[in-house]
Amino acid sequence: MKEQLEKILSTAKQELSECHDLKIMEDLRVKFLGKKGELTAILKQMGGLSAEERPVIGQLANKVRSEIEEKLAEKAEALKSEAAAKKMAEETIDVTLPGKAPRPGRLHPLTATLEEVKEIFLGMGFDIVDGPEVETDHYCFEALNMPKHHPARDTQDTFYINENVVLRTQTSSVQIRTMEQRKPPIRIISPGRVYRSDAVDATHSPLFHQIEGLVIDKGVTLGDLYGTLDLLMKKLYGKDAKIRLRPHHFPYTEPSAEVDLVCFNCGGKGCSMCKGEGYVELLGSGMVHPEVLRGCGIDPEVYSGFAFGIGLERITMGRYHINDMRLLYENDMRFLGQF
Ligand code: DAH
Repeated sequence: MKEQLEKILSTAKQELSECHDLKIMEDLRVKFLGKKGELTAILKQMGGLSAEERPVIGQLANKVRSEIEEKLAEKAEALKSEAAAKKMAEETIDVTLPGKAPRPGRLHPLTATLEEVKEIFLGMGFDIVDGPEVETDHYCFEALNMPKHHPARDTQDTFYINENVVLRTQTSSVQIRTMEQRKPPIRIISPGRVYRSDAVDATHSPLFHQIEGLVIDKGVTLGDLYGTLDLLMKKLYGKDAKIRLRPHHFPYTEPSAEVDLVCFNCGGKGCSMCKGEGYVELLGSGMVHPEVLRGCGIDPEVYSGFAFGIGLERITMGRYHINDMRLLYENDMRFLGQF
């Protein structure tokens, strides 16, 4: 029995010394000291010993137990500090490494320009309204005085869902929808996407953005159109910005005008920046055609109004001196990070 006890002690020491895991250590405790453990099994046999042997073996058994307990405690301590050291090593921070600079988000130039335009018009008492991008031929063309086969449709070829449903080519469709729904006085802008079946190049894209404007009231004149757009451009391009109205034709306005920005660089004389033109074409506008008003149930003898359609890309490119429209859609951070 003495040998058995010594054997238990030496295997316990051996196995504990090889143990590197708290869970395994607990298993060892049960194996040696538990109720069904090896030491208990020996103690159960003590009854068969002689009176002289019993205290000797008893003492030895107690010594073995306390030694194993001591080893277990030592091991537990060692494993704990080992784990703590490992954790410390894993969590070491090299403060000499270069930091990761956070990259703050920012508005896309188109969004930033649109937000500004909205603010300017809200300041002048305009509402912002929305309209569908998938539009009927009626709202996109017919009601704007562009019946089927009208030549003005040629420049606005688009994507047809079917003969009567198209992806809208212009936000002007929202003029009609608004006039049908609201009674004058009307003062709205309507920004949104428009589509044309154009090939992509530096100044064309099959998808771009417009901001439509519409004002209907009693006594609205071309002077109001001029004043509104002049203020818009001064706010967008600075107080020295000058515009001019150039006669043009749109089927839904009479008279119609294109609005040009006088070249900042040469003041209208013509230079390399404006490609010798002296002016940069900005948008289309005009006094809403009496036929269009009548079609929406508004009496042109009582009311008049003006409308305009701004190309968001165009005014954005002008503001930021961007020379290729494609840059606005490519989501290249090297480009977008500059604004
Ligand atoms: N819809 C025209 C275009 O896409 C722009 C335009 C011209 C809008 C005259 C208007 C307007 O409201 O009155 O080219």
